[in-house]
Amino acid sequence: MSSPRIDRAVTSGTFSLDGGTWEVDNNVWVLGDDRECVVIDAPHDVDAILEVVAGRTVTAILLTHAHDDHIDAALALAEATGAPTHLHAEDRMLWDRVHAEPPTDELEDGDTVEVAGTVLQVLHTPGHSPGACCFHAPALGVVFSGDTLFQGGPGATGRSFSDFDTIIDSITRKLLTLPLDTVVHTGHGDSTSIGAEAPHRQEWIDRGH
Ligand SMILES: [Fe+2]
Repeated sequence: MSSPRIDRAVTSGTFSLDGGTWEVDNNVWVLGDDRECVVIDAPHDVDAILEVVAGRTVTAILLTHAHDDHIDAALALAEATGAPTHLHAEDRMLWDRVHAEPPTDELEDGDTVEVAGTVLQVLHTPGHSPGACCFHAPALGVVFSGDTLFQGGPGATGRSFSDFDTIIDSITRKLLTLPLDTVVHTGHGDSTSIGAEAPHRQEWIDRGH
């Protein structure tokens, strides 16, 4: 068996909410080996995602949350790969704005997903959205944070269905308690680490975003 690896695609498109539309670049993270993989988020461009999958069996499409820029290619990817989509139930109202059919499975805090001999633990981290989740691979020292934690602080909480106090609570309890050398692979932009972000928690609270 080959050892697990993490590949990334960056896809471009738009994010729309509350009557506004913004151009965005999204990270797609693919964790697996030569045989199988999971895809974390399905933004914008199914062909770009399939290029990184490179013919491997996709065992699951894991969605960090249901803002349209993270799920707009989810059904096309599911159709192309036969893989089930997984989303936390509390983001269904966002999913339903984009897709007419439901996700295949519900994510819950504490669920585990195994791929290529590696375990991913599901962390429910509401705040950016009610059903936002992060995926932690303890054996790899990696957490996939979606839009919950970025290089430089928490994800945005200024629009509908977001809450700043809630995201701070999620980050404090679920992410800043991970080992400090844990690499954080984010939904947009550069990766960071728990140790790089943890010292700034009070600054985020003081500035309010
Ligand atoms: Fe988002």
